[in-house]
Amino acid sequence: MNNASHSVRTKWDGRYADRTLNDVKEPTPFLISCLPELPTSGLALDVAAGAGRHAVVLAQRGLQVDAVDISWQGLQLARRRAEQIGGYPGSIQFMVTDLELPWLPEREYDVILVSFFLYRPLFPLIKDRLKPGGQLLYETRVEVVGDHKQSSQRNPFWLEPRELLNAFSEFDIVRYDEGHRRRPGSCQGGITAQLLARKLNVGGDLRQE
Ligand SMILES: C[S@@+](CC[C@H](N)C(=O)[O-])C[C@H]1O[C@@H](n2cnc3c(N)ncnc32)[C@H](O)[C@@H]1O
Repeated sequence: MNNASHSVRTKWDGRYADRTLNDVKEPTPFLISCLPELPTSGLALDVAAGAGRHAVVLAQRGLQVDAVDISWQGLQLARRRAEQIGGYPGSIQFMVTDLELPWLPEREYDVILVSFFLYRPLFPLIKDRLKPGGQLLYETRVEVVGDHKQSSQRNPFWLEPRELLNAFSEFDIVRYDEGHRRRPGSCQGGITAQLLARKLNVGGDLRQE
């Protein structure tokens, strides 16, 4: 791991270190609302999976899940949560890696999920790793700022309005929404973009290869 990776990993390991299974958040309402659209078998990738709140739900749906994150501490929580729940039809493989290399496993996925993580150089890799007909579920924060704010002052970890929609415009957009959402169990929240989209075949149709 290089120095930059090391400091990101230390930061996130520190955040997860004193959390317990009781602190693991519930899956987002967005993921829950998309579940009926997802296959009940096949391969899924949870990008920056953290403490595994979504990887477990995808495995419960029947998918084989690769849960990838830079934080060993986060994935340890995810592993313990998966063990605690147990009895689900899918499986979860945990991988500690720096996604900012940029890197994604060299596999073809039926489903890719990204939740509250943004590293724009991963967009082409996400497109590449999805099978034709595969589904992308993406939700993360959007920064709405006045015209006076220079692009250099923007938060690099937050999207610009409609940025996600434009970045995956060649996909079949099943659902897209930007809006203010309250964090479950909290009076705080923020604006997020939610995208459910399907990768088209080269010819632009939706048939599976
Ligand atoms: C806000 S949390 C979201 C976690 C999870 N997706 C969720 O929704 O609960 C962001 C996650 O990104 C991970 N992360 C940050 N930088 C990373 C990197 N360069 N490579 C891999 N994971 C990274 C952190 O460890 C953390 O688990």
